[in-house]
Amino acid sequence: MADGGYDVSDYCAIDPRFGTLADADALLADAHALGLRVIVDLVANHTSEQHPWFTAAVAAGPGFPERRRYFFRDGRAGGEEPPNDWISAFGGRAWTRVREADGRPGQWYLHTFAPQQPDLDWDDPGVREEFDAVLRFWLDRGVDGIRVDAAPAMAKVPGLPDAGHAPGARFESRTWVGNPHWDVDGVHDVLRRWRLIGDGYDGDRLFVTEAVVRDAERLSRYVRPDEMHTSFNFDYLTAPWEAGRLRAVIDESIAALGRVGAPATWVLSSHDETRHVTRFGRAYTGAGFGGAAVPGGPVDLDLGLRRARAAALLTLALPGSAYLYQGEELGLPEVEDLPEEALQDPTWERSGHTERGRDGCRVPLPWSGDRPPFGFTADGVVPWLPQPPGWAALTVAAQQGDPASTLALYRAALHLRRSLADLRTAPLTWHSAGDDVLAFDRGPAFRCVVNLSAHPVPIDGPVLLASGPCAGTLPPDTAAWLSGPGTR
Ligand code: GLC
Repeated sequence: MADGGYDVSDYCAIDPRFGTLADADALLADAHALGLRVIVDLVANHTSEQHPWFTAAVAAGPGFPERRRYFFRDGRAGGEEPPNDWISAFGGRAWTRVREADGRPGQWYLHTFAPQQPDLDWDDPGVREEFDAVLRFWLDRGVDGIRVDAAPAMAKVPGLPDAGHAPGARFESRTWVGNPHWDVDGVHDVLRRWRLIGDGYDGDRLFVTEAVVRDAERLSRYVRPDEMHTSFNFDYLTAPWEAGRLRAVIDESIAALGRVGAPATWVLSSHDETRHVTRFGRAYTGAGFGGAAVPGGPVDLDLGLRRARAAALLTLALPGSAYLYQGEELGLPEVEDLPEEALQDPTWERSGHTERGRDGCRVPLPWSGDRPPFGFTADGVVPWLPQPPGWAALTVAAQQGDPASTLALYRAALHLRRSLADLRTAPLTWHSAGDDVLAFDRGPAFRCVVNLSAHPVPIDGPVLLASGPCAGTLPPDTAAWLSGPGTR
């Protein structure tokens, strides 16, 4: 748990803190009985430092084959300096020096993330074969798909040349061109290999990559016909609440992914990013995914929630797949005042306590009751991150019966998205509705209008669903789904 579970010491087991393999099987069976599918997260760029492969590699010493699964190298300057200038996504350099068996400082090993997450060398045939078996282990158990964690990290330019990072450079992977440790083309060999394995199984087994890369064209390479099926869309997640930028991202995504025959995907929040209720309530509404610094500043949570609700209707009306992050259906804000002693994200330590990291979007969900732990766990048990006492009004139980709640909005939108055939099949066609207004049709009988301007805009046609009160006009930061002929 050095990085919220993204440091795996046994790929074919469940951490006892979470349960057992029998629990996992029961979860799969229950989910399938409910018509839900389950995707597992495969963290294959790196293992935990506690993985037996890594402990054996450290123990074996320089030159021994156990070290070949990882990137062990001699340092520069007589061993004192790291082998190259690569940087870690969590701040600082991407290399840590080990102590050899004789107790002296020895070789360095590469970690794109925390030092507890040593990178595997995917050029090693043994690594490839061992992960084939890991994939099969989970697919045989009946999982419906696999999320490929940190996919662009899984290949490095041979020889590990310097990247030319400036001193103090941040891990801004969305700006890098020709970087030797990120989005290197060799990664696609691994993805093709996995796709072949997945295709050998019955049913629709889905692969989705996490690939924070430069643009829609680079992203489209991950979803070519013989690679992954879909990929998260970080251009959309990071886009500010601005009509022009959102429209450009939507068009570029559909075009670039369409060229390789892949569906577009849309996502507003994740376990790695400031929740969008909070982002959208700030002066700067974009996100910093990929390492870019984002200005903070005061937040207006009412405004953020209004926009977040409108953004949900925008997202769920777009063609392709939508990913929702747990808690956005409750309109949860980022928890920005977690006590420092509670912070767990490695970013906090690695940034020298200047960046608090991602814990604020990972606070356990409030289910019921009027005080923590809000039904998430038994009363009296303190979850790993404290919940704000003020979340009583945001619990599932509190929102359940309220038709104006964010939970009700998400449920209604998901229901319509499933029941309206045009939302599954019809292409998007833009409709002009004025500056700072996004309006598009999906087929002849469905229109989505999102008002990002500062003024109300007229709408007509029966309103199927709206993100806020509207009658004849759509107020600022509000979205509506309209039906039937006569929509204009
Ligand atoms: C991905 C995960 C993130 C994790 C990192 C390292 O970016 O989403 O949570 O820290 O990979 O595994």
